[in-house]
Amino acid sequence: MSGSRKTFDRHDAEPASCPVVSEYNVRPLAESEFRDASRVFLASLHHPAPTDEQWQRSSSRYEPGRVFGAFRGGELVGTTMALSSSIAVPGGEVLPASAVTGVGVRADHTRRGVLRSLMRTQLDDVRARGEPVAMLHASEAVIYGRFGYGEGTRTRTVSLDTHRAVLHAQAPSGGSIRLVGKDEAGKLLPDLYRRIASSRPGTISRSEGWWDSRLGVLSGAQMVVAVHTGDDGEDDGFALYEVSKNDHRFDDGVCTLQVSDLQSADAVATASLWRFLLGVDLVDRVVAIDRPVDEPLEWLLTDRRTCRVSSIQDDLWLRLVDVPAALAARRYGAAEPVVIEVRDDFLPENSGIYRIGPEGMRRSDARPQLGLGVDVLASLYLGDAGVSALAAANRLEVHDRSAVAEADRLFATAETPWCGTGF
Ligand SMILES: CC(C)(COP(=O)(O)OP(=O)(O)OC[C@H]1O[C@@H](n2cnc3c(N)ncnc32)[C@H](O)[C@@H]1OP(=O)(O)O)[C@@H](O)C(=O)NCCC(=O)NCCS
Repeated sequence: MSGSRKTFDRHDAEPASCPVVSEYNVRPLAESEFRDASRVFLASLHHPAPTDEQWQRSSSRYEPGRVFGAFRGGELVGTTMALSSSIAVPGGEVLPASAVTGVGVRADHTRRGVLRSLMRTQLDDVRARGEPVAMLHASEAVIYGRFGYGEGTRTRTVSLDTHRAVLHAQAPSGGSIRLVGKDEAGKLLPDLYRRIASSRPGTISRSEGWWDSRLGVLSGAQMVVAVHTGDDGEDDGFALYEVSKNDHRFDDGVCTLQVSDLQSADAVATASLWRFLLGVDLVDRVVAIDRPVDEPLEWLLTDRRTCRVSSIQDDLWLRLVDVPAALAARRYGAAEPVVIEVRDDFLPENSGIYRIGPEGMRRSDARPQLGLGVDVLASLYLGDAGVSALAAANRLEVHDRSAVAEADRLFATAETPWCGTGF
């Protein structure tokens, strides 16, 4: 995961591997520069500049003071930004968190340390704001480990043949489903998500700006919004989907219903939404992205093989910006306490020895039983990776073998962490 392990003082000049970084000036952008930042970001992903309409629906995501630019000769050549957000951690506590996005460097300025300087400025800013965690979705898995980010959650994409996939007779059922128009969805979904978003580790908040942008995208698409109402009359789940229809005269004639978001308060709402999606007329295949890896979908079906997992991918990358605060905020399983040594080259104030047990964590001066980088700690933090798996892959150092099983139990969570919210 992590690339560089070089140690350097964060207030010193950048390391020798970024020789020309001093030519770049990094500063927060004025609001009048936000659209330029959007252009640089989109161009780095090979997308065209935003149209007026696209800019209108995404501009509210840009928070004053949280958008940074790297300049050379007065020209904006790189950018990053953060949305003020929050994340649920094991035990149910919700921590303020920085949702980092819009990261891009102009193609003629890459590999000169621009991203490194942007990350430096941004992580210092996140720390100054008192947000213990930063998070992002990575375009490539090899970029962010060196800045202390680690893969914190995963998702899976599932594909079901609607002609064979049927929920079994005892699968939970109840309530009703209705389709709502885009205007009603705009009024209903932000509050519904707030009410039903689970306390599952990795769940993040969705701001007004996030919804403006998401529902703005819907307005130009053939997106359908289905809402589930429970037997008590309360809305308790929703699914967003789009149907792409091939013409059987030219193509293979397979009609696919693509689910991009499915959120529910309980098992009845979940099963009812799946039953509905699998029953939509003229659809041959349902594909759902960004699903939890432990969603019991196969168990709802008469024939579990009709649910094919087409991929499992990294979802949320996590950066513990304030390690003591983050470690203190989560709960731990029943096990003997373990002493770990954490290394953080990018934010060295996090480096140190921590004793973690069911009663919580504290700094310690005991001999460490395990040693690990802050990026690896991020993969353990929400419960996605197991300590023994990381030890087997030499991602952490084991000084006392008995600590591995104890640490496995301390960091394990009942539910697999899941984010499922793009930003
Ligand atoms: C990814 C991107 C932002 C990196 O910017 P950059 O200014 O070239 O990065 P830096 O020069 O600061 O690189 C810092 C380190 O990361 C490494 N690195 C950066 N991008 C990398 C990549 N795509 N693959 C592998 N290593 C990468 C550099 O080699 C350097 O390594 P070092 O620490 O060993 O010296 C830039 O290439 C880009 O805009 N890519 C296209 C858009 C994109 O993917 N954005 C990210 C969205 S999440």
